[in-house]
Amino acid sequence: MKYGADLGYALKNINLTINPGEKIGIVGRTGAGKSSLAKVLFRLVHENTSGSILIDGQDISEFGVGDYRPRLGMIPQESTMLDGSIRHNLDPLNQFDIEQMWASLIKCNMAKSLSRKIIVLDEATANVDLETDKMVQELIRKEFSDCTVLTIAHRLETIMKSDRIIVMDKGTIAEIGTPEELLAKDGMFAQLVKTSDFGQ
Ligand SMILES: Nc1ncnc2c1ncn2[C@@H]1O[C@H](COP(=O)(O)OP(=O)(O)OP(=O)(O)O)[C@@H](O)[C@H]1O
Ligand SMILES: [Mg+2]
Repeated sequence: MKYGADLGYALKNINLTINPGEKIGIVGRTGAGKSSLAKVLFRLVHENTSGSILIDGQDISEFGVGDYRPRLGMIPQESTMLDGSIRHNLDPLNQFDIEQMWASLIKCNMAKSLSRKIIVLDEATANVDLETDKMVQELIRKEFSDCTVLTIAHRLETIMKSDRIIVMDKGTIAEIGTPEELLAKDGMFAQLVKTSDFGQ
């Protein structure tokens, strides 16, 4: 996938099968192609692409937008879900703690989209503290246990309990496996864990 005919590949040689209900964590440095992967899945980008994406065996390019978008839920990178100003608007008197607010937000989103089976969170919790992030991830595992969830995160702890982790690099999948497999492999993911403040 390219963002323009004259531009370089934002994604290339992606070959990937995700199982129903799987929780996938996606990491990689800035510009690696994480958001692009989410965008092609939602057909937000479909020019300058080749290859195919199948959902339940059906090519998404054959879906009408009305057919498949309702099955997918995306919280995009730009929507800092509960940053200061949104929080202030939802709870101007500061009556609720952040946990209650996140729980309501997630449940709301679910009620709105019960038929959605694939959820993508693109840095949804980038601006919350570690404790809140952990609580949100726990909620997602519980509330979305039947859904396939792709979580893009800079913070390694956010995705450490995923079923599998994808490490993106320069538009390709550099590594994929369970957290344990990737740590044992001592490659890019293990390096990321070593060089971050992970666990501090
Ligand atoms: N709208 C766009 N037009 C042109 N190039 C783009 C556009 N969006 C992204 N790119 C380029 O595509 C590549 C992948 O970007 P992408 O946003 O997928 O990275 P990312 O892994 O999500 O990065 P980040 O961690 O900063 O969010 C980068 O080289 C980026 O500059
Ligand atoms: Mg991104």
